[in-house]
Amino acid sequence: MNRLGRKLAITISISILLLFTLSMLTNYFLLPQYYKYQIKKELQAVAHEIETTPTPHLEGFIHNLEEKYNVTIVYEKILDNEDDLNWQLREKLAKKKINLNRFWITKDTLQKVKEGQNQYVLYDQGKLKSSFSTSLIEKDNLIMVVGVSIVHFREAAEVINTFMIYTFGFAISTLLFLVWIWSRKITNPLKVLTDISQDISRLDFKKVNIKTDDEIEELADSINKMSDELKTAHNDLKRKNQNLKRFMSDITHELKTPLSLMKAYSVGIQDGLDDGTYLQTVLRQIDNVSSLIDELLEFSRVEQEELKKTDFDLISLVHSCLEKYQIEMKQKQICLDIHKKINPSIRAYADPSKIEKVINNLVSNAIKYTEGSTIHIKLDEINDHVLFTIENQTSLPNPTDITRIWEPFYVGEFSRNKDKSGTGLGLAIVQSILQRHQIEYGVKLSDKTIQFYIYFPKA
Ligand SMILES: Nc1ncnc2c1ncn2[C@@H]1O[C@H](COP(=O)(O)OP(=O)(O)O)[C@@H](O)[C@H]1O
Ligand SMILES: [Mg+2]
Repeated sequence: MNRLGRKLAITISISILLLFTLSMLTNYFLLPQYYKYQIKKELQAVAHEIETTPTPHLEGFIHNLEEKYNVTIVYEKILDNEDDLNWQLREKLAKKKINLNRFWITKDTLQKVKEGQNQYVLYDQGKLKSSFSTSLIEKDNLIMVVGVSIVHFREAAEVINTFMIYTFGFAISTLLFLVWIWSRKITNPLKVLTDISQDISRLDFKKVNIKTDDEIEELADSINKMSDELKTAHNDLKRKNQNLKRFMSDITHELKTPLSLMKAYSVGIQDGLDDGTYLQTVLRQIDNVSSLIDELLEFSRVEQEELKKTDFDLISLVHSCLEKYQIEMKQKQICLDIHKKINPSIRAYADPSKIEKVINNLVSNAIKYTEGSTIHIKLDEINDHVLFTIENQTSLPNPTDITRIWEPFYVGEFSRNKDKSGTGLGLAIVQSILQRHQIEYGVKLSDKTIQFYIYFPKA
């Protein structure tokens, strides 16, 4: 038997043993006393009834009492000679099929009965292994004997106790068998859970299927949940770690390129090779590095800053972002197509200053990279969310691993060639903000159209 089973078996066996011992001791010592006490109470009740009821028809009255209480009643005129009295009473008892070995009312007792004191006397019948319990009452100058035969209870208790030992043996063996089955039922799933926990500790995030409909099943569910969450957290950490590594090498590269250019052109100027454009190039590279540093600072700020979520007017926020780009759009002859299928009073719930950064980035990208003349912006109400989409034409080839667009420093080859692209940190900032808000977002590419979508939660 397993350890749990052993513990269960020992505890239950001890409890049963205690219970049996207690009931055996009760049988032996307390029960006989209690039995006698009950008989005496019954005799007292009969005596009381005899005393208080007037008895014009003595025989009928006695017969009724005998039936009602299941006792034997005999009576006799109180004689001065107690020998005669005793023999008469014995004879009458014998007539009622009560043959007693020992029955003798002593002079003393008789005297007390005469004085009106009811007497309770127990006559042990020796080898008959019983006693005759009597109540002696005086009524209308008669002595009444109310008697009941009682067995010697202690001997009966001994027999019962012997029998109980057999019962105890049987109970214990049945119980041990049941405990064995039950403990297996409990420990088998526990064993599975232990194995799973060990697997999880080795970063093997498994799950179990235990259906016991009890606390063990609840434990299994919790472990499954824990496994899931640990898996997500672990993968997330791994991904972040990888991103960080790549980020570090990218940053170095991004900084090194303009620096080496600056150096080369500066040396060119020093050597008198300048054709009049060198200084321009150096200044442009300085601008690049400076804006890269600005964006890096911005990136680290959005990663760090606390979110101040509140409800705000999303429509106004989008409009105020678009206003900033009016002149640029006019210059590039780009027009806006805005669709709003939402209640104008609707409010979203997020950190508005961060969301402003998101919209600015998406709008500025659309203006910068569109290959067409129209940018489509839509606001739709979908259940508990407001769906924001921004769409423009693109020459990004299809299929493209469009998800890479969110990576820091990723700039499309095409945009780089056209010298349009910036640092490649814009969408990484957008992603970081939306992820921290746990807002659903994404990008789709189809038919030369690129669409960014965000599901803002309603306030
Ligand atoms: N609206 C868009 N249309 C087409 N290409 C886009 C759009 N937005 C982003 N891109 C592509 O994704 C790349 C990364 O964008 P982003 O992270 O904002 O960096 P950046 O704008 O500094 O280049 C861009 O270089 C561009 O190739
Ligand atoms: Mg950008």
